[in-house]
Order: sequence, then C-alpha cells, then structure tokens
Amino acid sequence: MINKEEAYKKILVTIEDTLRDNKDIKFLTLISEVINYYKKSFAYMSWVGFYLASEKHLYLGPYIGDDACEIIPFSNGVCGRCYSLRETQLVEDVHLLPYHIACSSSTNSEIVIPVIRNNKCIAVFDIDSTLYAAFDEIDKKYGEKIISLIQDIE
Ligand code: SME
Repeated sequence: MINKEEAYKKILVTIEDTLRDNKDIKFLTLISEVINYYKKSFAYMSWVGFYLASEKHLYLGPYIGDDACEIIPFSNGVCGRCYSLRETQLVEDVHLLPYHIACSSSTNSEIVIPVIRNNKCIAVFDIDSTLYAAFDEIDKKYGEKIISLIQDIE
C-alpha cells in the first residue's frame, strides 16, 4: 500500500497531466475530479467536498459523503472561518470548537482549505473524518498545493 504522501503526489501528477492535456477544462470538472481522487485514495476521509461562495454565503457544491448543510454563513462553521480568514483550518477535534457546524454527528476532525482567485475567496475545500486528529501538515501541504493548481481555472 502506498503511503499518504505518495498518494498525494499521484493526485498532483494526475491533475498536472489533466491541465496539460485539456486546456478547456473547467473549475467544476476539476473540483469534481479532485473529490473523486481524494475519496478513492484516502480511507480516513468520510466527507470530501467543496462549498462555493456567493455574495451572501457559502453554498454546497460537489461532494461525496453523507448529506450536508446546503448553506453556511460566512460568520459560522469551520468553513465560514476558513472563508473569512483565508487560511487553512486544521481541526483535530471539532467538538472543541463552538462555531463548528455538525452536518454529520459522526465527524470528529476536519480540514478546510481556502480557494483564492483574484485575491478573493471563491470556495472552500472541506474534508471530514470520523477519526480524531485524522489530518496533519501533510494533508495541509498537499491540499494547498492541489488547490493552487486549480484555483485560477474558471
Ligand atoms: N463542519 C463544517 C460544515 C460542513 S460539513 O462538515 C460537510 C463547518 O463547521 O463549517
């Protein structure tokens, strides 16, 4: 079995190949593929998806996992915090955060990565796990790298 870092490197190469081979690819296609690659590669991830930013709030985009909240206010949730601070949120125990929104009661840890385009947060990439402290600096480093490859594609 390949380790986590190798799995992330494989995803990076796949996305780089896609970007090279398909110049017309759309953001929606890329984020749908990223979700699929993540869910296939990492058994510790229970929910993988994107929330997109409108003028008013974050709304549910493509995802794999249990049912999820359709709307998240900018002022609430780990996702809202990621949007507002434009910084990756690495949460070892979601139950310790008063602003965490429990879409699924089985979630125990979470990572949320901002998607920045033209100096604006246009979406957040949200990944949950039923394990505590499932995510670490490797998930952050490679997650941010993957997002940086696709965030400027419209
Ligand atoms: N837990 C998130 C809400 C989204 S679900 O996890 C899919 C939050 O606190 O923003």
